[in-house]
Amino acid sequence: MRKPIIAGNWKMNNTIEQTNDLIKEILEIELSGDVETVLCVPYTSIQAAIELTRETGIKIGAQNLHWEKKGAYTGEISSVMLKELGTEYVIIGHSERRQYFCETDETVNMKLKAALNDGLIPIVCVGETLGQREDGIHLTLVKDQIVKAFKDIGSKDAEKTVVAYEPIWAIGTGKTATSEQANEMCGLIRKTLESLYDKGTSSVIRVQYGGSVKPDNIKELMSMEHIDGALVGGASLKASDFGRLINYKTEEANV
Ligand code: PGA
Repeated sequence: MRKPIIAGNWKMNNTIEQTNDLIKEILEIELSGDVETVLCVPYTSIQAAIELTRETGIKIGAQNLHWEKKGAYTGEISSVMLKELGTEYVIIGHSERRQYFCETDETVNMKLKAALNDGLIPIVCVGETLGQREDGIHLTLVKDQIVKAFKDIGSKDAEKTVVAYEPIWAIGTGKTATSEQANEMCGLIRKTLESLYDKGTSSVIRVQYGGSVKPDNIKELMSMEHIDGALVGGASLKASDFGRLINYKTEEANV
């Protein structure tokens, strides 16, 4: 049984002071223990977020890392540094990093290995642009992203990984993929993982959907066979919305 995992991706939002305020607001909400709850915050907020969420069940993640442990890489942060703070998760290969910061399938693979080597749980992002979907190459493209991301990663490590399918056209646009489109791709991701490893491995890897997930569409998305959670940008910046996402099982929603 895969435990649902919902992760907030704050992106480049919230100073330390704002982090304190938002997390305190979230902690006032009674959050379902059935859902693994993660907040991926800016590097500068990690320490504050970890202190505030200690023993609350909320886990803290980063949004990127460098694949080397240390060295002459000005401005970068390594998995060792993240672990020292107590960080548990790290987003790898988000489409914004692929688009604006030259992230490639090869760097995603190197970062995935670094995170796993140092005991961080990676949330690996894949997804297509609108043009690629319209050209009908979205399935092949995402399959290829998965194959390249998991290159030379053993099954025991793969099992610890979370994959997030985020169609780029649905991120921050208010356009959600239909639950069928999201489920189709998450299913293909699982099938691809099965072909890389085996059924046992692919059946424990959690696959999230991301892209304009909101309290009014989470329940339907989570009802789909291959969707085990969500990676959430905008709606994770408001405590009440984030709380409703985590408590989706008891949400009155349009299923
Ligand atoms: P969104 O972002 O929920 O604001 O669409 C999702 C993401 O980029 O992870």
